[in-house]
Amino acid sequence: MSFAMREVVLLNARGKKWRIPVGEGLRTVRGVGQLKTDGLERLVGHSLEVGGRTYAVLEPSVRDQIETIHRKAQIIGPKDGAYLAFHTDLGAGDTVVEGGAGSGALTIALAHAVAPTGRVVSYEIRPDFLDVARANVEEAGYGDVAQFREKDITQGIEERDVQAVVLDLPEPWTALQVAKRALQPSGHFASYSPTVEQMRETVLALREEAFAEVWSVELLERRMEVGRGSRPAFQMLGHTGYMTFARRMVSA
Ligand SMILES: C[S@@+](CC[C@H](N)C(=O)[O-])C[C@H]1O[C@@H](n2cnc3c(N)ncnc32)[C@H](O)[C@@H]1O
Repeated sequence: MSFAMREVVLLNARGKKWRIPVGEGLRTVRGVGQLKTDGLERLVGHSLEVGGRTYAVLEPSVRDQIETIHRKAQIIGPKDGAYLAFHTDLGAGDTVVEGGAGSGALTIALAHAVAPTGRVVSYEIRPDFLDVARANVEEAGYGDVAQFREKDITQGIEERDVQAVVLDLPEPWTALQVAKRALQPSGHFASYSPTVEQMRETVLALREEAFAEVWSVELLERRMEVGRGSRPAFQMLGHTGYMTFARRMVSA
């Protein structure tokens, strides 16, 4: 989604990024120096020199927004967020229920998938997390797409006939009944869990509840370093979490 550009990203030659609000006059940015932020949006696609160093000026992508989010809870990053949005088949106009909002990183990925006409309804029990998630989502430009409910999702989902329910909770299996009631027939269920035990318990509960096409996956991301001798980077983004997917059946 291209939103009214309130920020730009400065990218240096080593791949480090800074999100800079535009139109805020002269500003000192840690690690960059002092720069004029008025009219920065007109430099998008060009290079900018600050303190003798050169930066590419970019429009923030959804990946930039998620990677530079203010973190309160452990977030779901772009590697898994994009996969969750794709495999729950989300598109513009869909409604997706999320539990819990945490820092709002996944909320942004889901909002990006359903914008501009769809809706993300995100449940969160902790008011302090809710404040951070709301601020992050608004800052990313998805305030009109996402809606937050301060509520324990296991106690009930108010929405009905939604296209997808996506959970990032310590005990996702405790929310299967309410997810089932909220989902449209054949709607998509997805859950993200850091441990094998959580993933296993979720899969067993989904089978018990007669969901169809229950499957789990872990993604490992390894970047390539291209030079004279090109090879994979020594470090990789290995374990983050297991993702489990399923489809809601009306009858088995
Ligand atoms: C790991 S965090 C979610 C992070 C989020 N996916 C992100 O990318 O920023 C898990 C969140 O679930 C919330 N939570 C735990 N149990 C809940 C429940 N029953 N209903 C709603 N939220 C819950 C926690 O307060 C916490 O904020």
